[in-house]
Amino acid sequence: MLFDVAPKERREDLYDRERELQELRDALELGERLVVVYGVRRVGKTSLVKAGLRELEVPHVLVDVRELYYAENIIRMQALVSRVVEGFRRQLRWYRRMGFDLRSALRRIRRIRVGDYEVEVEPGARVLLTSLLSELDAWCRRHGMRFALVLDEAQYLRFSNVRYDGVIAWAVDNLPSITLVLTGSEVGLLRDFLRVDDPEAPLFGRYRREIRVERFSREQAVGFLLEGFRELGVTVGEGEVEEAVERLDGIVGWLTYYGYYRAVRGMPHREALARVFEEGSRLVLAELERAIAPSRRRYAAILWAVAHGASRWRDIKAYVVGRTGHITDRRLSDLLKKLVKYGYLVKEGGEYRIPDPVVRRACLNLRP
Ligand SMILES: Nc1ncnc2c1ncn2[C@@H]1O[C@H](COP(=O)(O)OP(=O)(O)OP(=O)(O)O)[C@@H](O)[C@H]1O
Ligand SMILES: [Mg+2]
Repeated sequence: MLFDVAPKERREDLYDRERELQELRDALELGERLVVVYGVRRVGKTSLVKAGLRELEVPHVLVDVRELYYAENIIRMQALVSRVVEGFRRQLRWYRRMGFDLRSALRRIRRIRVGDYEVEVEPGARVLLTSLLSELDAWCRRHGMRFALVLDEAQYLRFSNVRYDGVIAWAVDNLPSITLVLTGSEVGLLRDFLRVDDPEAPLFGRYRREIRVERFSREQAVGFLLEGFRELGVTVGEGEVEEAVERLDGIVGWLTYYGYYRAVRGMPHREALARVFEEGSRLVLAELERAIAPSRRRYAAILWAVAHGASRWRDIKAYVVGRTGHITDRRLSDLLKKLVKYGYLVKEGGEYRIPDPVVRRACLNLRP
């Protein structure tokens, strides 16, 4: 169902994304080892990768690094390995159907037991991600297969005492049958973490395929809603679809919520739209508060000012000073840059704006 609010796992539930799927297919068919998927929040990165790998029948595991960070505030290697093993467990049957024999692939790692329905790490055992990947790679090489490890929201790997960029570079150099797929919403932060342009960094100079997931165009957004309603046999006025697209601006995550409220929950148009903004703001605020915590008053003042229409540096500064006292230009500039890296702001032609309509709404009520 197109209006299912969980990330999509099947091609038939994914609307369009033909170009991006083709890129992913090309990368895997060519045996590329590093794929980076960029795109703002709720634009459909996880869905693309999940549905894509499933359709291509590439055995894989997806680890939600952001969720792991939220749970533990740091990305420990053992926690990451446990998530990988959990992912194995969930997909054992599917692997079997793909001809991927996990038990045989991991037989040299004694501390992991693979049963018919279970995969377990011995309690207290330390298993290195590198050994796990090496074994998977060796098996895949012998059997002419490929395994993909997806690190979803990989920029959170920076919160660790492990140098994951080094681990990634090692895997890219040494494991020809493994493809690492990294995704990131906070595009600037992912680029910083990978430091692909820094000669001193482990990943410097490595080939990578970059796939950019963009917002839906107007036509795509309209098409998505119409198709979703058709699928559920719900008739809606054309004006409603137009208005929803206008207000939600091509972000498929919000369009999906709207479709869900409107067609699955059966709410009237206006109410469904209002719900997206209300519930969406709540979601956004929870995340936003985490991101801005290190300098909350100042970040909040900036976002509030931009949400209320201040777009030039000078106007933002005036508001921030009024609200929170003197700030140096340099500090303000740092904070603005960070907000751009997080994706909460964009800067175009010297003006700042909040690109996501629901974030904009959430920031209207952000009390500095
Ligand atoms: N191409 C698509 N067709 C239909 N629904 C989609 C599509 N892409 C995403 N969705 C829906 O939009 C929502 C957001 O998708 P998803 O979680 O994949 O995005 P994301 O970019 O990974 O978001 P986040 O930044 O929150 O991790 C989900 O409800 C998902 O079902
Ligand atoms: Mg995602």
